[in-house]
Amino acid sequence: MSVTMRINGEQREFEIGRDLLPTTTLSAFLREQVGCTGLKISCDEGACGACTILMDGKAVLSCMLLAVEADGHDLLTIEGLPEDDPVIEAFAEQCEPGHGTALQCGYCTPGFVMTVRALLNENPSPTLDEVKEALSGNLCRCGCYAGIVKAVGHAAEKTVARGGRS
Ligand code: FES
Ligand code: FES
Repeated sequence: MSVTMRINGEQREFEIGRDLLPTTTLSAFLREQVGCTGLKISCDEGACGACTILMDGKAVLSCMLLAVEADGHDLLTIEGLPEDDPVIEAFAEQCEPGHGTALQCGYCTPGFVMTVRALLNENPSPTLDEVKEALSGNLCRCGCYAGIVKAVGHAAEKTVARGGRS
């Protein structure tokens, strides 16, 4: 038996038993079998958001899904975002050391980037409350929340300036 899924724009087919087990989580499968190591596994139980990817355009926690559940779906990991994606740019620009940085160790960053990407896909100009709500499932142990919120604001400005295009 096989499963098919689109990963970062490429249609892929995998054989159950050879490429993945029925019990393999989507996060482990993407990292270890597909090589999408941008997504991180931290808590492995749905509590931190580090493993966030987009499935059919919606943010999902890949550690809480089985790889077989992605059969027939469209997946996007941080590797699939273009370098000039406004969210990528905004996080990269908000990284000066000190108060206001969006990242220190960077372990949480891919998860935040994908969560923000999903948010701006649906709502290019979110309010502060909407940003906080959208980010409520992502944890940053370095405590960069103020900088992350700033980066989201800049990403939204860039998205709007480009006519809503991501
Ligand atoms: S690793 Fe998936 S939510 Fe923490
Ligand atoms: S930057 Fe280190 S966990 Fe967020």
